Amino acid sequence: MRILVINGTNLDALGRRDQTLYGDKTLSELDTLVKKHGESLGVEIDTFQSNTEGALIDFIHEHSPNADGIIINPGALTHYSFSLRDTLADTRLPVIEVHLSNIYAREEWRANSVIAPIAKGQISGLGWRGYVAALQTLVGDLRGES
Ligand code: DQA
Repeated sequence: MRILVINGTNLDALGRRDQTLYGDKTLSELDTLVKKHGESLGVEIDTFQSNTEGALIDFIHEHSPNADGIIINPGALTHYSFSLRDTLADTRLPVIEVHLSNIYAREEWRANSVIAPIAKGQISGLGWRGYVAALQTLVGDLRGES
């Protein structure tokens, strides 16, 4: 089983961004942690980050045919990228949207996700643990565990 774990805009700056919102882990620490959990679940994890919408879309086009599910934190693209939404929907893979911060407890414009309607579910505000919860859920579901 192979899961794509994708981070969008500005998430390369984790560790330097507001730690009260996003925690103190860097992206590379986060990726390592998610991969470790993937290993313990016996699944392959492919991580990717870009600040460019097109690069995220190209990565999904290229890698989704050989993947079983997608975990994505699109960053601010969450709130306006219809292109990313279409790309994710076109994969027909289960998608879980993750946010480190609680997007419903911040500015009003952040409370709208254009990705959420095509996602299996969304985790918001649980910090790095949200990625682990998403992974456990996706894998359990794909394996048909009750
Ligand atoms: C974020 C929330 C977004 O609103 C913001 O633009 C980000 C990070 C989060 O993980 O909490 O860049 O996706």
